[in-house]
Amino acid sequence: MSVFDVLLLAGLVIGTVCFEACPGNFCPPKWQRLKVVREELDYAGSVMLGKDEESGCMCREVPGKFSFCYGRATCRSFPKNFNITTNTLLVKATQIIELKIGDLSKLTDLETLKIEGNNNLSRISTGSFLEMSRLSNLSISYNANLRSLEVGSFDGLINLERLFLVKNAFVKLAELTLALAKIPRLQKLQLSENNFRRISRFDFEPMRDCALNELNLILCQIEQIAPQAFNPLTNLTVLRLGENSFDASTITRVIEETIEHVPLRLLNLYLIGLRKSPPKPLLTAIGKSNITSLCLARNQFEVINADSFPQMPNLQILDLREVLLLNITNDAFVGLSNLKTLLLSGNKLSSIPEGALLERLTYLDLQHNSGNSFASTYFSIFGQKFTKMKNLELLDLSFNAIHAVYNSSFLGLVNLRILGLKNATIFYIANGSFAMLPKLVFLNLENNHFAKNHSMGLRFELFEGLGNLRVLLLGGCGISFINKHPNPFRELKNLRHLGLERNKLITIQGFEVLINLRTLDLSQNGLQPWYGRIFHKNYQLKDVRLGNNRFSFLTETMIKDFENLINLELRNNPFTCDCSFSWNTGTIMRLIENQTIFCAFPESTTRLTIQEFLQQEHCQNLALVLPLVFLFIFIAVLIFLLYYFRWHLRYWLFLTRLYLSRNGKIRIHKERSAYTNYIYDAFVSYSSEDRNFVIRLVTMLENYPPFIKLCVYERDFEVGTTISENVLESLAKSRKTLLIISNSYAKSQWCKWESQLAEHHRLFFRNENGEYIDDSLILIKLGPVNEAHLTPTLKYLLKTRIYLHWDVEEKKQKVFWEKLRTTLAPPQEINENTYL
Ligand SMILES: *[C@@H]1O[C@H](CO)[C@@H](O)[C@H](O)[C@H]1NC(C)=O
Ligand SMILES: *[C@@H]1O[C@H](CO)[C@@H](O)[C@H](O)[C@H]1NC(C)=O
Ligand SMILES: *[C@@H]1O[C@H](CO)[C@@H](O)[C@H](O)[C@H]1NC(C)=O
Ligand SMILES: *[C@@H]1O[C@H](CO)[C@@H](O)[C@H](O)[C@H]1NC(C)=O
Ligand SMILES: *[C@@H]1O[C@H](CO)[C@@H](O)[C@H](O)[C@H]1NC(C)=O
Ligand SMILES: *[C@@H]1O[C@H](CO)[C@@H](O)[C@H](O)[C@H]1NC(C)=O
Ligand SMILES: *[C@@H]1O[C@H](CO)[C@@H](O)[C@H](O)[C@H]1NC(C)=O
Ligand SMILES: *[C@@H]1O[C@H](CO)[C@@H](O)[C@H](O)[C@H]1NC(C)=O
Ligand SMILES: *[C@@H]1O[C@H](CO)[C@@H](O)[C@H](O)[C@H]1NC(C)=O
Ligand SMILES: *[C@@H]1O[C@H](CO)[C@@H](O)[C@H](O)[C@H]1NC(C)=O
Ligand SMILES: *[C@@H]1O[C@H](CO)[C@@H](O)[C@H](O)[C@H]1NC(C)=O
Repeated sequence: MSVFDVLLLAGLVIGTVCFEACPGNFCPPKWQRLKVVREELDYAGSVMLGKDEESGCMCREVPGKFSFCYGRATCRSFPKNFNITTNTLLVKATQIIELKIGDLSKLTDLETLKIEGNNNLSRISTGSFLEMSRLSNLSISYNANLRSLEVGSFDGLINLERLFLVKNAFVKLAELTLALAKIPRLQKLQLSENNFRRISRFDFEPMRDCALNELNLILCQIEQIAPQAFNPLTNLTVLRLGENSFDASTITRVIEETIEHVPLRLLNLYLIGLRKSPPKPLLTAIGKSNITSLCLARNQFEVINADSFPQMPNLQILDLREVLLLNITNDAFVGLSNLKTLLLSGNKLSSIPEGALLERLTYLDLQHNSGNSFASTYFSIFGQKFTKMKNLELLDLSFNAIHAVYNSSFLGLVNLRILGLKNATIFYIANGSFAMLPKLVFLNLENNHFAKNHSMGLRFELFEGLGNLRVLLLGGCGISFINKHPNPFRELKNLRHLGLERNKLITIQGFEVLINLRTLDLSQNGLQPWYGRIFHKNYQLKDVRLGNNRFSFLTETMIKDFENLINLELRNNPFTCDCSFSWNTGTIMRLIENQTIFCAFPESTTRLTIQEFLQQEHCQNLALVLPLVFLFIFIAVLIFLLYYFRWHLRYWLFLTRLYLSRNGKIRIHKERSAYTNYIYDAFVSYSSEDRNFVIRLVTMLENYPPFIKLCVYERDFEVGTTISENVLESLAKSRKTLLIISNSYAKSQWCKWESQLAEHHRLFFRNENGEYIDDSLILIKLGPVNEAHLTPTLKYLLKTRIYLHWDVEEKKQKVFWEKLRTTLAPPQEINENTYL
């Protein structure tokens, strides 16, 4: 992990923690918590190993990481019947009373063991760890009833390096050190949060010349320490005594005695109740030692002046955070000729103190001094304050009311790598303010106001000269747009991470210049789906966060933009899960596989995740199948209706043509076939109720000259063929058509036949001169016909044609037959112009 990764994680927000020693010139902040806090383990993915009947404990394992056993109500002895495969075991929250020999005999492979939070535990028997030769980390902490150890408790721990005995109920240090002395390679020992009260001269004597180099005795209610108490610890370099209640003279004498014998490098004396100013004798003693790192945080020193610090040529790191400092005089730190790291955050300084601007400093922390209140004075960086500080690599001015950054503010900081200006109430940043920071790699401008003014926006000149910048944090700056010409990111060719979360962006552009960008945070904006490529030139981009925006769907372009990512965050967007949902592409689904992304619309899907929605899939099938089914049904119904009403349709069609022809809209040409093709002289169309008349008609016409041949429905139609086919065929074979019009014919038959007759004969039409162009239709009216039964065509025919009338009078019948024979006789014998 590089410097900026660490800083990125730390976000340059540091709480109540103490800065500690670091090798080298420039140290990234390596923060050690003041109190040992219980480690937060990630229990996700753990599997049950089972319940041990003998001990009553339950054990689980996160494969490849660690195992843990528990049972607050049931677990009464150390669990022995499990096959633990990890190197780390945690036994916590049980009722185990005692750790006995043999309890750990199956666990000899363990490297880390934690026995924590077991409130009934009161004894660690001699020899409990006898075979634990591989154990290197051991914690027996937070066991409220563990008051003492036996001399042989830790026998066998030949490779143990780190031991945590935090917050048990130990009271006698001498008892512990007898047991601890048996651990040959012990390097770090945590005894914090026990109740020792006093450390006497021989308490550490059993551990004389051991390897121990780090000892923590924080919050142990220590009031007295014998001056030579630490002298046996001849390899000790780190001593933490914070949050105890000894007085300044006690610790002064301890240091005076200790430094001769112990190679201390780091001394932590935070929150030990020092007041007014650091005790001079103490500082003098420390000044004579090889101590390089001193933490005096959370004591109370209102003023630091030339008198406060004596010559301390070895001191490199000084932690004066939260000491209620009001004033640092210009010569306050002149004695600290090698000071490299100065931590002054959380004080009450009203401006950047001249005295803190030491030439050799590499790290200056001035966060949280003026506060953010508008009422207080600004923590001004006007003027060329940092011109001497050519060694400074980190400057943190976050959480001060800075108001404005000028183009001369950072002049001289030629080696600055990290600049923190978070929550600094900055309204104005002059053109090229950062241009004189050629080595800057990390710039934090989060939660400021400089981009809120739309006319200023995110200007190109802001990041002028930052060709080495790797991390730029602009979260919460109210940015509503990014210029494309000129592009504010134009010079940021080495930028790896860009933070633009919590802004007001609706669209984004201009990222193509960021050719080395790897991670991009755009969460909590108002972004909407985009249609033009945005990340097509960012070949290194691997991680994009788009949570809490306004995406209701993803476009094809977006999916293309995301193709090369390893991480994509899309939580809390108002995704619409309906049939138009179309990003079920492998890429996106793989990227979001571990995210819980809910559908937002429509309401029926709001409790589903995207994955669940897609699994249901019914949507896609319905989308395709339903219309097909409807189409099929529609066509089937249509075919049925067409077939069922086929006659009616033909009739309607015919009526239309007729209507049009009568109005001269269309013209019908006369087309008649040659006479020679006819088989019949006439086709007889009649109603079956008039059969008797037809029989007579046949007899009269076929048996006497000129022997007319008739086509009669019942006699001549071939069996098996449908009426319509027969009708058409017979019509085609007949020269004329004879209609026997009676009441029943008009009622039942005519409708069926009318159109076919009409089609065949074209007989209802007149030519241009108003003459009928077809004389092949012959009408015989049989008795009176009820007007109500006549169709318009039939009415029309009866009105416009002369028809033969059948009469009951015999004399008239003779004339009737004669007329009929003449009309139906073959052509050579009739006059073409004769109409009846
Ligand atoms: C542990 O492993 C041994 C042999 O590998 C086996 O006999 C025993 O049943 C296992 N115990 C449990 C609790 O799985
Ligand atoms: C553990 O301590 C609690 C109360 O401190 C007690 O009720 C319980 O019986 C003890 N368990 C065992 C196994 O002694
Ligand atoms: C022991 O603890 C240290 C610090 O917590 C850790 O870095 C180290 O990996 C641990 N060792 C083992 C073997 O778990
Ligand atoms: C103490 O430290 C010195 C030098 O750092 C080393 O040589 C010596 O072995 C250490 N003592 C023990 C007991 O480890
Ligand atoms: C400081 O360190 C130097 C060199 O390592 C050594 O000579 C000197 O004795 C040490 N001073 C004290 C007070 O331990
Ligand atoms: C700091 O102390 C110096 C010297 O005592 C004094 O001149 C100056 O006004 C003080 N500054 C503040 C801000 O109190
Ligand atoms: C700062 O800006 C002023 C004008 O606002 C300009 O005259 C001056 O040269 C600039 N200084 C630097 C170091 O760019
Ligand atoms: C920093 O600014 C953010 C956004 O304005 C605000 O929510 C947060 O409380 C501020 N932090 C501090 C410590 O003032
Ligand atoms: C900053 O630069 C822009 C364009 O380069 C210019 O319009 C603007 O006036 C400048 N602002 C200042 C304060 O110089
Ligand atoms: C925005 O910036 C312009 C130009 O610097 C200035 O005139 C205006 O007052 C600013 N508006 C606000 C609301 O700060
Ligand atoms: C999701 O989690 C699994 C298991 O932890 C992991 O292997 C996989 O890489 C993760 N997928 C993504 C995209 O982070």
